[in-house]
Amino acid sequence: MPTPLIVRKRAEMRNLILTNRALGRRIGFVPTMGSLHRGHTSLVDQATADCDDVVTSIFVNPSQFGPNEDYEEYPRDLHADVHLLSQHGVRWIFAPDVQEMFPPGDSTRIEVSGPAKPYEGILRPGHFSGVATIVLRLLQSTPAHKIYFGAKDWQQILVIRQMVQDLGVDIEVVTCPTVRDKDGLAMSSRNTYLSKDDREQAITIYSSLQQAEKHWCNGMAINKIENDLKKRLSTKGIQIEYADIVDAKSLNKISKANPSTPTIILIACRVGSTRLIDNLLLPSQTLSSC
Ligand code: PAJ
Repeated sequence: MPTPLIVRKRAEMRNLILTNRALGRRIGFVPTMGSLHRGHTSLVDQATADCDDVVTSIFVNPSQFGPNEDYEEYPRDLHADVHLLSQHGVRWIFAPDVQEMFPPGDSTRIEVSGPAKPYEGILRPGHFSGVATIVLRLLQSTPAHKIYFGAKDWQQILVIRQMVQDLGVDIEVVTCPTVRDKDGLAMSSRNTYLSKDDREQAITIYSSLQQAEKHWCNGMAINKIENDLKKRLSTKGIQIEYADIVDAKSLNKISKANPSTPTIILIACRVGSTRLIDNLLLPSQTLSSC
């Protein structure tokens, strides 16, 4: 497969996309912060299957990191990323520098309310404003037909969908399933921070989610499922930030299963000093898959 073209400037990127749109080509866009793994390439593969051309952005976005977060340490390896993307049929890699995306004097931010408020919104103030701002700015340079996100960052998808709807952004948002390692741990660029012991602890996250799903299908009360889930995590030494069963669209807590309410378990926790998030969309209790 041909090596993707690396584009550094917003205007050049926008011209390439618009020129190809005018030729009738359908464009898919996968925004990332690099340090790519199979979770990211699954989005690229979906985009390649749906569209004629795929553009991937690699940009570690400073505006979505809090002051005590890992912006400086965040893993960066453009060379390895380009190599991986070249094996997945990506046509363009948009890799601007910080000045290009946040020029001197920059003073505009997007603030989403609603789904951006609870959970990560409380624990990482400013995070979703940073995400919404960069996604909208990236989209100005990559005006694609479809944009792809992973279900692993469930709340992020709700925030982006809200912004797209409210601002009338002309793009279709596609959600792709979470990709896991063989041991069940959801793939994440931050997994490189985990020591061997951390990793052993971390696999409890998914096994606990699976156990909670079994309880759910057996009709156990929601507060009991949550208590059992929290116990399993904390027994392994995992520090829980939240582990809740909520309405998958509104993120409101639910006290009773309702077949017409899509329901999800959301987890954020610390394993050693690494913060991890995961989730599991619960099957309808009326389905045979439950
Ligand atoms: P990043 O963490 O690099 O993730 C880029 C995309 O890959 C997101 O849509 C994320 O949900 C998806 N992804 C990550 N791990 C995944 C997994 N295990 N399975 C499936 N998809 C996975 O999310 C961001 O970057 C940033 O917030 C961004 C949207 C790029 C804005 O800066």
